[in-house]
Amino acid sequence: MEKVVSGIRPTGNLHLGNYFGAVTNFIKMQDQYDCLFFIADWHSLTTHPKPQDIQQSANTILSEYLACGIDPEKAPIYVQSDVPEVLELYLYLNMNTYLGELERVTTFKEKARQQPDNVNAGLLTYPTLMASDILIHRAVKVPVGKDQEQNMEMARKCARRFNNIYGVDFFPEPQSFHFTANAVKIPGLDGSGKMGKSQDNCIYLKDDAKTIRKKVMKAVTDCGPQAPNSPKPEVIENLFTLMRVVSKPETVQFFDEKWNDCSIRYGDLKKQLAEDVEAFCAPIREKIQAYAADTDNLRAIARRGAEKARESANATLQEVRQIIGFHKTV
Ligand code: TRP
Repeated sequence: MEKVVSGIRPTGNLHLGNYFGAVTNFIKMQDQYDCLFFIADWHSLTTHPKPQDIQQSANTILSEYLACGIDPEKAPIYVQSDVPEVLELYLYLNMNTYLGELERVTTFKEKARQQPDNVNAGLLTYPTLMASDILIHRAVKVPVGKDQEQNMEMARKCARRFNNIYGVDFFPEPQSFHFTANAVKIPGLDGSGKMGKSQDNCIYLKDDAKTIRKKVMKAVTDCGPQAPNSPKPEVIENLFTLMRVVSKPETVQFFDEKWNDCSIRYGDLKKQLAEDVEAFCAPIREKIQAYAADTDNLRAIARRGAEKARESANATLQEVRQIIGFHKTV
């Protein structure tokens, strides 16, 4: 079966946009491929997080992804820093990667602009660490967003260059698997487009009923349909898009008809939407809480994940050492 690897950046809680994007895609992929998912905690060091936050965010990610349906029996989930093999390969890959090409990566340039006082070497070599995450398992498919294209290009370059230097056909060139193409784009509640953490327009999976209601009731609307059967402006279409993923088809149809005959009352629509979002989120939220409360279980799941990942990583690394010319002397 084809190998799939994906890293999860520890950046806060999952929202509905993540759920219907990356997470749904992971859940589907775990049935079709040999998947490995990991929490990219080494990558997060480029911004110098507090020690307690690292542990905390790993637990949060584990709880949320497991609650959404990642099945660690099908798709091991591990913490990157539990798999030291990744670092050895990172070192080898760095030896074949040039300063100039790393400096040209736009995410590096952006980060350097965002944190001018902390343009560290880890930031520069972020793409080779990511390449190592992927190549350590000799993965062929990587589910990532469009923003990762340049990093993926670097990963392919690392694979190709290693193969060329040593005259081997060892690393496959990993391909991005863009899920955004067939995923539902979940809009934000502020009418500005996509749901995104930085936009502060999200409904988080962990939000309680009251928070959900408050957020939905505050969603941006307009002054109502001006004529029967008129097209919906974006802010209204956004509410319907959300409704289509959480509500029953009859509910959507009901409000669609109300829109078309100009009798729609946004207060009613939002009330219904809030209820349906809550009904959708409640069981996931309960699972998140249950997973988060049992840190022993989380640790056991991560440990099992790391064992499986290390097995796969070790197999690659043994061969890489041979190819490079390191033979076991101890
Ligand atoms: N760079 C990815 C992101 O920002 C996270 C990541 C790190 C990753 N290593 C990876 C993704 C390996 C896929 C494969 O989202």
